[in-house]
Amino acid sequence: MRAVGFDVIGGPEVLRPVELPVPVPGPGQVLIRVAYAGVGYGEAQHRLGDFGAPAGIEVPGMEASGEVAGLGPGVTGLAVGEPVAAFLPDGGGYAEYALAAAEFAFPLDGISLRDGGGAALALPTAYGVLAGAARLAAGDTVLIHAGAGGVGSAAAQIARALGAAAVYGTVGTPEKAEYAKRFGYDGVFLRDGFAEQAPEVDVVLDSVGGATRSSSLGVLAPFGRLAVYGETAREADPELPVRELWLHNRSVTGYNALDLVRRAPAVLRSHALSALSLLASGAIRVDVTAELPLSGAREAHETMAAGRGRGKILLRVAE
Ligand SMILES: NC(=O)c1ccc[n+]([C@@H]2O[C@H](COP(=O)([O-])OP(=O)(O)OC[C@H]3O[C@@H](n4cnc5c(N)ncnc54)[C@H](OP(=O)(O)O)[C@@H]3O)[C@@H](O)[C@H]2O)c1
Repeated sequence: MRAVGFDVIGGPEVLRPVELPVPVPGPGQVLIRVAYAGVGYGEAQHRLGDFGAPAGIEVPGMEASGEVAGLGPGVTGLAVGEPVAAFLPDGGGYAEYALAAAEFAFPLDGISLRDGGGAALALPTAYGVLAGAARLAAGDTVLIHAGAGGVGSAAAQIARALGAAAVYGTVGTPEKAEYAKRFGYDGVFLRDGFAEQAPEVDVVLDSVGGATRSSSLGVLAPFGRLAVYGETAREADPELPVRELWLHNRSVTGYNALDLVRRAPAVLRSHALSALSLLASGAIRVDVTAELPLSGAREAHETMAAGRGRGKILLRVAE
């Protein structure tokens, strides 16, 4: 089968076309004939070695959609030919066929394969960081860093659907601020200097880290929660002033999907099903801004690595 893989860590240039055998589903797994694969920062982390050095050829792709092409022993509740969106914690989506754990293969009732291709990691993450880590309550106000990105744009819409009273975002450039308006933000700030402009909020979602993380503590209202779930800035982990948390009624909380895969897969599945039902109902949408062929994976990663990505970039895998 056609795939895109890498065997050394590095920039987008390490991604190359490879030919691999079609995998065979083991116990509890389904084989998916991939239609679309999402491109997100998780795949950049995979490529950069954040999840470990590659052991041979590794195929990125942590979310994909397609039809079930085969069932491993013991799988129930899914049928061959059924359209699904799948979260693939170990990657594998940039290929004609991918293996998914059955519990992370979600039927696409009322959702297109195209939307589903960018949904199975971005949406559960947005839902999980809001509902799980930040314990968002109706009436809360929220500030979302990188608010024009895949997870950020989903989080803005999910926060509203969960009853947030106001939703603010930060972005890297004025062009992205203009683009982000389509997600219903009450205000979008340039991240550079956001802390002087943004109002106090109950929840901040931070996937950027570094100086953005430190400044975010200062915009928390009493009992506000800073929910940390990434570090795209790739700056040094800031020192956490614990006494400051006490003196200013602040909390810091974290979200990590890969930890949930290991320790609480049912929680992750529940977040995914909740987020996908919001998508199916039309309460939220996936904003696909670019659709490239599988051979365009490197170009998609170049866009993402340069911080130029907006909404969701997809790879169209099926011919
Ligand atoms: N914890 C988890 O389980 C989990 C799961 C999935 C994703 N994530 C995290 O969620 C975040 C968003 O993921 P995504 O897939 O939706 O990506 P994305 O938001 O589509 O892209 C990343 C965004 O981060 C910002 N950014 C800031 N510094 C950057 C840099 N040095 N290089 C590239 N981008 C930079 C850019 O937005 P601006 O132009 O607005 O700065 C960029 O568009 C990432 O940090 C990812 O690691 C975490």
